[in-house]
Amino acid sequence: MDIKKTAEWALEQIDPRIVSWCFEQIKSLPIIGDIILREYDTVMKDIEFAVKPYKDLYETFATIPERGRDKNDIISMMEEMNARERSRWKDGFVSGAVYHGDEEHIDFLHKIYAIHSQSNPLHSDLWPSCTKFEAEIVSMTGHMLGAGSVSAEDPEQRICGVVSSGGTESILLAMKAYRDRARKEKNITAPEMIVPTTAHAAFDKASQYFNIKLIRVPVDHNYRADVRAMERAITRRTIVLVGSSPSFPHGVIDPIEELSEIARKRGIGFHTDACLGGFILPWAEKLGYPVPPFNFRLPGVTTISADTHKYGYSTKGTSVILYRGSNLRRYQYYTTTDWPGGLYFSPTFAGSRPGAMSATCWATMLALGEKGYLEATKSILETADFIKAEMRKIPEVYILGDPLWVISFSSKSLDIYRIMDAMTQKNWNLNGLHKPPCVHLCVTLRHTQPGVAQRFINDLRASIEFVTANPDQKGGMAPVYGMAATIPVRGIVGDILERYLDSLYKV
Ligand SMILES: Cc1ncc(COP(=O)(O)O)c(C=O)c1O
Repeated sequence: MDIKKTAEWALEQIDPRIVSWCFEQIKSLPIIGDIILREYDTVMKDIEFAVKPYKDLYETFATIPERGRDKNDIISMMEEMNARERSRWKDGFVSGAVYHGDEEHIDFLHKIYAIHSQSNPLHSDLWPSCTKFEAEIVSMTGHMLGAGSVSAEDPEQRICGVVSSGGTESILLAMKAYRDRARKEKNITAPEMIVPTTAHAAFDKASQYFNIKLIRVPVDHNYRADVRAMERAITRRTIVLVGSSPSFPHGVIDPIEELSEIARKRGIGFHTDACLGGFILPWAEKLGYPVPPFNFRLPGVTTISADTHKYGYSTKGTSVILYRGSNLRRYQYYTTTDWPGGLYFSPTFAGSRPGAMSATCWATMLALGEKGYLEATKSILETADFIKAEMRKIPEVYILGDPLWVISFSSKSLDIYRIMDAMTQKNWNLNGLHKPPCVHLCVTLRHTQPGVAQRFINDLRASIEFVTANPDQKGGMAPVYGMAATIPVRGIVGDILERYLDSLYKV
């Protein structure tokens, strides 16, 4: 029996709130607490150095300059920083992050932004163009995701939605809507949501923000949601079940058909998180790839999040949250009638919003058309197929589950985080994941450029060789990930993450 693993398993069973309470007690002990805080300072010095590379290169503005600076100087300073940051994503070294990035497309987005830099959808009377854009973005996205299979005459069925600022906001909005509906219509005052452990952190955020108990259910050996275990977790307080299409960590699609059917039969909401896949899977299906049903064609699916700022190829700052029935959507809205500032209402969390984001989103959808999305999806999936086939020839690594284009991989013989560190040395920016330890490459249009996929494979092979030849080398992210994976120090890692956020705002 592995004592360390057993101890970790035992600690996993304890409510995280108890673990964090114990840790807070330890930190308040005089000597031990001081040692922990001093260690934090040491770690933070290195982190701050890494997050502020411009500190010694440019003047720091902690207060508004007395006189305005020359505009050309400002522009050239910003262009210099941009030039430093650009090549890494532009040349296809980055997982996810920039999903299109072709020069011509960027120029087009800039032109649209310039037309709409002053608009604000909050003032629908001043900018009815924004209202038109948003209604049509929702309708186009809804039809792409199965709205046509639903009766448009029935207000309980008709697909509707809103434009939000990103995937996280879409998810938060849907979870809030489910919570408020359950409170009003079913008198559920201690709501619960059931998600596979691989569901995005945004669901945990929703649970914390809206006081919904999060029931996390372990996934099966293929990293897909475990249907029977999720069904067993349902109680009288369950307001929604969640499945990803695909999941962020391993890029696999949960069994949405079975899960949503269970939810439908039990009168519970079902959310498909298609933030990552919403603008790939419909086209992948048309191209003949094996795409299991995940959208409104399934009668149990009641909400879908799909990100226009990922594979919708618009600028960062938009996503779509779709609802089956306008009744559910109303629980998302905010209205007030007794504020001295006048009658106030807004569909999402923000008040004022950048109309330019909706304008670029609408314009992108129009400019690409179905043909553009199909072609983009084809080249992304073909590139991913090449990478997966080449990776399967490398004995030291294996691919987790059966992903289409978000390729998560690990190693049985080597420390995968050390391989990631070696890739970082070669300019790659991959996503480190844990539980289990692995790394992923989220393939975008940047990787479809000639030679990029082959370079990834060559660099991966060279990194494996390097780690094999240097088994004892220290440093990099490997120890950090190793530490984060062990429960007893998770409180420390959480504290460091908070300090990291603090450091981002230090001048
Ligand atoms: C499956 C999934 N859901 C939700 C999100 C959150 O999206 P955002 O970062 O736009 O808030 C992501 C982001 O990668 C994702 O992959």
